[in-house]
Amino acid sequence: MEKIIDIQHLNKSFGSNEVLKDINFSVNKGEVVSIIGSSGSGKSTLLRCINLLEKPSGGQIIYKGENILDDKHDIPTYRKNLGMVFQQFNLFNNHNVLSNCIVGQIKVLKRSKEEAENVAMKYLKTVGMDRYINAKPKQLSGGQKQRVAIARALSMEPDVMLFDEPTSALDPEMVGEVLKVMKELAESGLTMLIVTHEMEFAKEVSDRVVFMDKGVIAEEGNPEQIFNHPTQERTKEFLKRTLKV
Ligand SMILES: Nc1ncnc2c1ncn2[C@@H]1O[C@H](COP(=O)(O)OP(=O)(O)OP(=O)(O)O)[C@@H](O)[C@H]1O
Ligand SMILES: [Mg+2]
Repeated sequence: MEKIIDIQHLNKSFGSNEVLKDINFSVNKGEVVSIIGSSGSGKSTLLRCINLLEKPSGGQIIYKGENILDDKHDIPTYRKNLGMVFQQFNLFNNHNVLSNCIVGQIKVLKRSKEEAENVAMKYLKTVGMDRYINAKPKQLSGGQKQRVAIARALSMEPDVMLFDEPTSALDPEMVGEVLKVMKELAESGLTMLIVTHEMEFAKEVSDRVVFMDKGVIAEEGNPEQIFNHPTQERTKEFLKRTLKV
């Protein structure tokens, strides 16, 4: 199995607060990995370290066999390969839907406007937003905005897509449409790393589930192992608390 990202002994501290402690795990090509865990356990920080929005304090991030934390490594080149979807969409509000999906392609990937538009249309169709190309973000619902944000990330044709609680800011009635798109992407063979509070979704789509607690990976395994046969006491407690509500 080809490892896309291999994290070794990753540490991250904010001042004296050690938020990630010796994290080791990898994401294989075509795999869907979900990260679950309590608030403050370090899930977002881990994703932000992986795409270098935060600088890790120690350890290695091996991408295609190279440690991208080496000083000599070219960060922008690495980051082109990662797509990121945030809780808060982060769309450009003064750009329409199509424009949101082409600016990165033109600026970063140096694609022509025509090519960028063709690629954007392909992915806007994938997420069911191709009829809204002229709309501004403020005219869209939260679920629609998040689907555009996913299309924008896909338009960069990254090796791996990182999602940080993509449905947490949505009204409940819009969660389903976003999860449906993500499920289709998972089934299409896209490599995905997903931080989520949606346990049913994680159970259904993940090849592997990582449970984080207080900055460490407390347990990982396939959904059957983690959700039905957790071995660690803290995993059991977390699931009991989370599945009850
Ligand atoms: N930029 C920062 N500066 C200082 N401390 C930070 C920063 N970002 C995160 N932290 C701290 O790191 C810890 C982990 O935060 P993180 O956001 O990664 O947790 P999380 O698992 O994503 O939680 P949630 O489920 O609430 O999103 C918290 O104690 C948080 O206060
Ligand atoms: Mg978070």
